Amino acid sequence: MEVVVITASSQPVTLVLFGASGDLVWRKLAPALFDLFVEGWLPEQWTALGVARTAMDDPAFRARILDGVRRFARRRPQPPQEEAFAARFFYLRGDYDDPALYAALARRLQERGAEGHRLSHHVFYLAVPPGITEAIVTHLSEAGLLRDRDRDRVVIEKPFGHDLPSARALNARLRRFLDENQIYRLDHYLGKDTVQNILALRFANAFFEPIWNRRYIDHVQITVAETVGVEHRGGYYDQTGALRDMVQSHLMQVLCLIAMEPPVSLSPDEIHYKKLEVLRAIRPIPPDQVDAYAVRGQYGRGVIAGAEVPGYREEPGVDPQSNTETYVALKLFIDNWRWQGVPFYLRTGKRLPVKTSEVSITFRPVPHRAFPDTAVRAWQPNRLILRLQPEEGVLFRFQAKAPGPLMQLQPVDMHFLYREAFGDAPPEAYETLLLDLIRGDTTQSLDAAWVEAAWAVIQPILEAWAARPPTDFPNYPAGTWGPPEADRLLAQDGREWMLPTLLEAPSL
Ligand code: BG6
Repeated sequence: MEVVVITASSQPVTLVLFGASGDLVWRKLAPALFDLFVEGWLPEQWTALGVARTAMDDPAFRARILDGVRRFARRRPQPPQEEAFAARFFYLRGDYDDPALYAALARRLQERGAEGHRLSHHVFYLAVPPGITEAIVTHLSEAGLLRDRDRDRVVIEKPFGHDLPSARALNARLRRFLDENQIYRLDHYLGKDTVQNILALRFANAFFEPIWNRRYIDHVQITVAETVGVEHRGGYYDQTGALRDMVQSHLMQVLCLIAMEPPVSLSPDEIHYKKLEVLRAIRPIPPDQVDAYAVRGQYGRGVIAGAEVPGYREEPGVDPQSNTETYVALKLFIDNWRWQGVPFYLRTGKRLPVKTSEVSITFRPVPHRAFPDTAVRAWQPNRLILRLQPEEGVLFRFQAKAPGPLMQLQPVDMHFLYREAFGDAPPEAYETLLLDLIRGDTTQSLDAAWVEAAWAVIQPILEAWAARPPTDFPNYPAGTWGPPEADRLLAQDGREWMLPTLLEAPSL
């Protein structure tokens, strides 16, 4: 058998980190780079040039980078590694809308070229608020920094646009400066091992696919619950809300991976196409029936892990009259042969009782129940649970005969846990994503058509909600499972939200 060995990338690379003094670089990108560095995944010649408005010199920037590494990296840094790592970082101060910044940047990159990095790939990572993406790309292009279609890449974080028209306009604008293969639209959920594992589970095993359809599946629930509030991101979040921040990106991606048809290969085009097909098959939500499909919520004061926390409207950076939603529940149908009539229920919210992301697939009941009522008191339908985080794993729930002289059925779980099977939790999403973009692999980035199709799904909700501001916000106390309307959304179909398995059996 041929053994394929995946090695570290060998092309020299310069990462230009816009927004270098910000949270994403400190909390996520620097620690992920450090872990990749220690594990030998990065090319021998790599450097990172931080760009931001804050006045800082190289030593101050390096100190901040190391601070992030010490707090958040998976690997415990040792002093010689720290030094070698920090020495790769440089800093350039400037205003994002000042052409002088880009002239200086071009000079810095040229100097690096003269130092032997002539063939370096340039990855321009825009870790900045969405509103300034366009301006930075325009300036980069005008400074001649995006000319090399193979080596110059731009990375843009979600949300990509703020609705369908703005996403279309942004895509059209970017196309003037860049080829599609130069653009990496990032959704960090796609870098999570457990999310990638949905493909492995479904298509590397023979026994799931035959039952993965409307004949056997009753409904699907996707829950992404967070205990945090908006932390120090009130300014951004108040302009964005849960529908744009989480549903249009992370939850739609998970939905697509659960619902897509089997791919012919794992090539980026093929995967993008199969996911796009799902979005195109989602039944459009009629503008006058939005309430029958979507529920919004905003948290008020409450208690999380025994501590009192403020309401959303009291958070720093948030308008005290804000109508921004911090919770969304949705019901969607996919109009194709596989999924006709199977509801997909999605929910996400901040300040919920537990941090967990989980997909729960509930199977139809057995066609005939031969067991007497006394045997099936604790009966539950079969469920397959993909626990995306934390305590990552997959659980399958089925009935077993409880030991004893009587025929008593009881639901039991078979489980696979990452930490048991592999001895470790999976790596951080950003490690995988950074490596992909250094290597030029676009499989895990979003293509323009997908982004627009995902906006198209939620556009009727955005419009209906904008036209009709909520009158009942805040409508759930922090530390609870969202507004009562979210329960009604399922109750009207004779169903209820599943308690996340993490709460049912924390040790599993
Ligand atoms: C980000 C959102 O994309 O995802 C945040 O902007 C959210 O609001 C975060 O907290 C959740 O990510 P994770 O990996 O912790 O589920």
